[in-house]
Amino acid sequence: MSNFKDDSSPNGSLSGAFANDLPGEFAKRFGGSSDTVRVFAAPARINLIGEHIDYNGGKVFPVALDRYLYAAIRKRNDDSIIVRNMDLPGEFRTTLGSPFVANANGDYVKYLNGILFGVQKAKGVLGSGFEMLLFSTVPMGAGVSSSAALELCFSYALSELYGLGIDRLDLVKISQKAEHDFAGVQCGIMDQFAVAFGKKDNAILLDTASLEYELVPLLLGDYRIVLMNSNKPRALADSKYNERLAECRRGLAELQNIVSIKNLCELSNRQFEEYSASIGDETVRRRVRHCVSENVRVLQSVDALKAGDLRSFGKLMCESHCSLRDDYEVSGSALDALYDEAMLQEGCLGARMTGAGFGGCAIALVHKDRVDAFIREVALGYMAKTSIEARFYIAGTGEGAHEIS
Ligand code: GLA
Repeated sequence: MSNFKDDSSPNGSLSGAFANDLPGEFAKRFGGSSDTVRVFAAPARINLIGEHIDYNGGKVFPVALDRYLYAAIRKRNDDSIIVRNMDLPGEFRTTLGSPFVANANGDYVKYLNGILFGVQKAKGVLGSGFEMLLFSTVPMGAGVSSSAALELCFSYALSELYGLGIDRLDLVKISQKAEHDFAGVQCGIMDQFAVAFGKKDNAILLDTASLEYELVPLLLGDYRIVLMNSNKPRALADSKYNERLAECRRGLAELQNIVSIKNLCELSNRQFEEYSASIGDETVRRRVRHCVSENVRVLQSVDALKAGDLRSFGKLMCESHCSLRDDYEVSGSALDALYDEAMLQEGCLGARMTGAGFGGCAIALVHKDRVDAFIREVALGYMAKTSIEARFYIAGTGEGAHEIS
């Protein structure tokens, strides 16, 4: 039923139980014994609701998925660093204190460079080099945070392998900074936080202003979260993301002339109505309206889920999507098509884009008995509208960054 991406690499080299085989695969590629190889994993994430407000001091509600990026790693006796990726040909080499040089197959090494830089800045140059084999069941560029999974998996692996004792929140901050400084995306903290702190069967209610969080059991009864990958590349996502951030900063600066706030999400809907005239630009006003209303929807969603009121939660998901489509303008035709098709289906209580938008994934809350029909019909309707084949996966929850023993 799931045709998202199964638990094998695209070249089919490992089966679903691959995590256990990874030390063996490592030894085949790097030689030596597999006994001293350690394996670490970090999950993908979806966000249930609370989009584009983690850089506005809002509350967000992500979930770690049961799709992981894995790193098998072993120290070397010299200062060489060698990385291979099971999904891509070739290898990357550098030495302690130097960055990798990216090539067409290795765009991802910018994240590795960012982590190497951040970890060594915090803890000094590593005592020796290492070799590492990467393997992933997280779809890349699909808006489920493959980059945060890589950042957290690698930073956690380094911290554990070299006994650096970096706590999770610091790993999160190092990873976010790697994204800012090495990938050029001024992202909020939600993705890295969810990938580090995720817990099976729970969503995370994170206050991005204080970084306090609460695990909320994800009790969906007869309903399932269906993840719908638009398979539309997230073109322009990074530049548009930074543009939205700039618009929010502009709105905040104008509001601060008349009201004492640090973040947009401190406002209630009523306060937004009261003060919105002070924002000169109509577009910026709509961006701010999204942030304020989305933050309120997160709190209402948490209440609804805790009360087992899935209908209300589904309705809030839809309102969130419409706000991201109309006020924040980050959905795009592919995600809107998935949303529209999803909402036509019997047994679907709500749907919305998830993540940064501009392509990537949407999620839907679907009755378990209707999931097969839902996937079939949405796939057909989406194909008819976009000529793109969507991919589907019933989202299971996963664990934050951890070592596989
Ligand atoms: C990306 C960013 C996050 C967050 C989402 C939108 O995933 O990395 O920080 O802003 O977009 O909610």
